[in-house]
Amino acid sequence: MNLIDTLKGMEKNNSVFETEIRKLPIPTCSAFGKTEVKPVAFENSSETLTSKDTAKVNEAFPNTSKASENRVLKAAGSNPSPAKGKRVAVLFSGGPAAGGHNVVYGLKKILGKDNTLLGVKAGPKGLLEGNLFEITDESVAKIINTGGFDFLGSDRTKIKTDEQFLQVKKTCVENRLDAIVIIGGDDSNTNAAILAEYLFKGIKADGSGVQVIGVPKTIDGDLQIGDILPISFGFDTATKIYAEMAGNILQDTPSSRKYWHFIKLMGRSASHVTLEVALQVKPAITLISEEIAEKKTPLSEIIDQIAKVVVARSKNGINHGVVLIPEGIIEFIPEMNALIAELNEKIAMYEKELHNLAGGEKRDFIYNKLTPAHAQLMASLPDYIEDMLLAERDSHGNLQVSLIPTERLLIDMTKRRIKELDPSVPFSTQNHFFGYEGRCGAPTLFDAAYTYNLGLTAGSLILANKTGYMASIADLTTGGRPIAIPLSGLLNVERRHGKDEFVIEKALAQTGSEAMKYFISRRQDWAAGDRFASSGPRQLWGPASRQIPMTVALNRKCDSLNFTIGE
Ligand code: FBP
Repeated sequence: MNLIDTLKGMEKNNSVFETEIRKLPIPTCSAFGKTEVKPVAFENSSETLTSKDTAKVNEAFPNTSKASENRVLKAAGSNPSPAKGKRVAVLFSGGPAAGGHNVVYGLKKILGKDNTLLGVKAGPKGLLEGNLFEITDESVAKIINTGGFDFLGSDRTKIKTDEQFLQVKKTCVENRLDAIVIIGGDDSNTNAAILAEYLFKGIKADGSGVQVIGVPKTIDGDLQIGDILPISFGFDTATKIYAEMAGNILQDTPSSRKYWHFIKLMGRSASHVTLEVALQVKPAITLISEEIAEKKTPLSEIIDQIAKVVVARSKNGINHGVVLIPEGIIEFIPEMNALIAELNEKIAMYEKELHNLAGGEKRDFIYNKLTPAHAQLMASLPDYIEDMLLAERDSHGNLQVSLIPTERLLIDMTKRRIKELDPSVPFSTQNHFFGYEGRCGAPTLFDAAYTYNLGLTAGSLILANKTGYMASIADLTTGGRPIAIPLSGLLNVERRHGKDEFVIEKALAQTGSEAMKYFISRRQDWAAGDRFASSGPRQLWGPASRQIPMTVALNRKCDSLNFTIGE
C-alpha cells in the first residue's frame, strides 16, 4: 500500500492508535468468570440507604422502594438461570464521558445471543420519539475502548410531564421493551429512578413492567457515594487529559517567564476535577469552591489572596504561575450564591413573561424584580458575567456555568488589586477553559475497565429481573466487585426551578476529606515556589496506566494508586 492509501485508510476512526486500542484486552472482575463472561446473580447486602427524606421518598416511590427495601445488592455467584428473550434499550444522557461505549459493549456481551440490545439515538429525546435501532456484534466491535458517545448520541431532555411519560410508555410498547439502561449523571439517574417507578407494572399486556437500570457517568465526579460508588466513569480520563495540558502549561511558565495562566476546569458545581488536577500537577494557586462556601469567603478576599501570592512570588523573582479555577465557583461565593438563588427563583417564576423579551428588556424586567442589594450587585458585575447569569437554565434547572467566563472576572479584578498592592509587580495573563477537551478522549485503562464491568453489571441486573438500581463496582484496588445501588435510596428533596423536587444530591468535594487535607497541607509550598510536576499523557499501557484518580485513592484510604480490577 502506498503512503496516500495508508493515510486514507486511517480516516473514520482508523488511526493506528484507534485500531490498536480496539484490540486492547479489558480487565474483568473475577465475579463474571475466568474464561467466558457470565451474568452474576444478586442478593441483599447488609447496607441500607437512608436520608432525611426517606419517608417522603418511600411514599412517592412505593413500588421501587418496597421492592428494594433501599438495600444495596451484592453479587452472589453466577446466575444459574438468567432471563432469556429480553429486549433491552440503552441510552446516553447528558454530557459525554470517556468509556460510555464500553458500557454498551459490556451490555452486549452479557446479554449475549439470547437477548436483544437496542440503542436509543440522541438520549432521552430519542426515547420519547421512539428512535431505536438494533445493536449488532459487528457495530459494537467498532466502538470498543473508543471515546465519545457518538455511537448513540446524547441530550439533556428531562422526562417530567405526563405527556412525556406516556410517550416513553408508547416507545416501550411499540418496541416490546423489557428494560431500559440509562447511562448518565445525577440528574439522569434521577430520571432513571422516576422512570423505574412509573414503569414498574402495568406496561406490558400481561400487566408486568419495564425494568430501568442506571449507570453512573459524569466527568464532574459529583456522582459518588463513599465505598459503594467511589467515582463516576469519565472522571479519570478527563482529569488525566486536563492534568497533561495544565502540566504542559506549568512547564512553559518558567521557560517563558512572563505569564500567569488562569485555567478554569469543567466540573459544574463540584470542585473534584480541579482538586484532582491540582494533586496531579501542583500549581501555585488552586481555588476550591466548597472551601470558599464553607469559609464564606467574599469575592474581594479571594482576589486579595490571589494578588498577595502574585506579589510574594514576584519578590522572589518569580513572575509566573498557574491558577486553577473550578467551573462552578461563582455559585459558591456567598454574595453571588444569594444573587443566583434569587435569580433562579425569579427566572422560574416569570418564565412566560421572560420568554417573549429580548436581551435588554429581559435585563430591565429582572432588575425590577430583584431585591435592591442584589440589583446593586448585578449592576457592579461586568456585562459578560451579567449576561450569562441571566441566560436560560438547562432542562434540569441548572445555571449553565460552563458559559460564565469567571477566569476573566478573576483576572480583571486581580489586576486591579495588584496595582493597589504594588504597581511595580508585572502581571501578564493568559486564560483558558479546559472542558470539552477531556470528555471524549479515548478512555484511560481504568475508565475502559470500569465501564465494561459496569455494562456487565447492568446487564446482569436485567437478567436477574431487577429494576430501580444503579450498577456499580466496589473495591477497585482489591480486584473489583459488582454491586447494585437502589436508586430510591439516593433520592432527596431539593429546590429546583423554584419548587421542591426529588433529586439525587450532587456529591460536592468535602473540605474535611483526606484529599483536601493533603492538598491543604501542601498548597503553601506550591504557592511559594515552583513545585509543579507533569503527569504526562494518559497511558493505556505502561508504568502509569493502572493509576486511579489521586483523590479517590486518598479519600478511600487505598494503600496504593493502582486499580486491580480482574486481578
Ligand atoms: P454531565 O453532568 O451531564 O455529565 O455534564 C458534565 C459537563 O461536562 C459539565 O462539567 C459541564 O458544566 C457541562 O457538562 C457542559 O455541558 P453543556 O455544554 O451541555 O452545557
